[in-house]
Amino acid sequence: MAAAFAAVPRIGFLPAHQRRFAADDRPLGIGHGQTNSQPTTVANMLELLDVHPGQRVLDVGAGSGWTTALLGELVGPTGRVVGLELVPELAHWGAVNVSRHHLPWATEAEPAPGVLGAPDQGPFDRILVSAEADELPTDLVEQLAPEGILVVPVRGRMLRVRRHADGSTTTDHHGWYSFVPLLRHR
Ligand SMILES: C[S@@+](CC[C@H](N)C(=O)[O-])C[C@H]1O[C@@H](n2cnc3c(N)ncnc32)[C@H](O)[C@@H]1O
Repeated sequence: MAAAFAAVPRIGFLPAHQRRFAADDRPLGIGHGQTNSQPTTVANMLELLDVHPGQRVLDVGAGSGWTTALLGELVGPTGRVVGLELVPELAHWGAVNVSRHHLPWATEAEPAPGVLGAPDQGPFDRILVSAEADELPTDLVEQLAPEGILVVPVRGRMLRVRRHADGSTTTDHHGWYSFVPLLRHR
């Protein structure tokens, strides 16, 4: 994971006026009321997600594109990362940021209107959600492949949900965090 962070420096995913703060371990504004997440939070979430080369990953709340590019490094050229961002201006800017890293298997775009995630592009081995849900988003659980893992903050608590081959799930909890809200519609 350290190699991914070294290959994808945060500074390339910040607006010009925030770049001098890139080394600060705190969320930084990226406009539209949204943030580039705190680096230790991103590292903790990626640790929980346990991403392997070749996996298909959904990145919900891709924002600046930083997590999408980090995931692209982790899955490598045999994998796929689908980054989704609800705010059109951020989705466009994030896509440009990701494209600078020459990881064509990792992309960022807007989700289909009214759809949470990308059920048409699943199932996914891993799903990362960088916005806070008020309840477990079952439509994302359904987009997991067998033995797939979803990491999502729900009412401030970080959840890791593993979906088993029979469709049942196991959930464990990993501390408390503050996030912007996961929105259903724009
Ligand atoms: C903490 S921010 C950005 C995190 C991003 N990974 C980064 O480090 O830049 C979370 C983003 O989730 C987006 N968001 C909220 N609800 C969403 C949804 N249903 N689908 C896609 N993006 C969503 C927000 O617009 C916001 O930009």
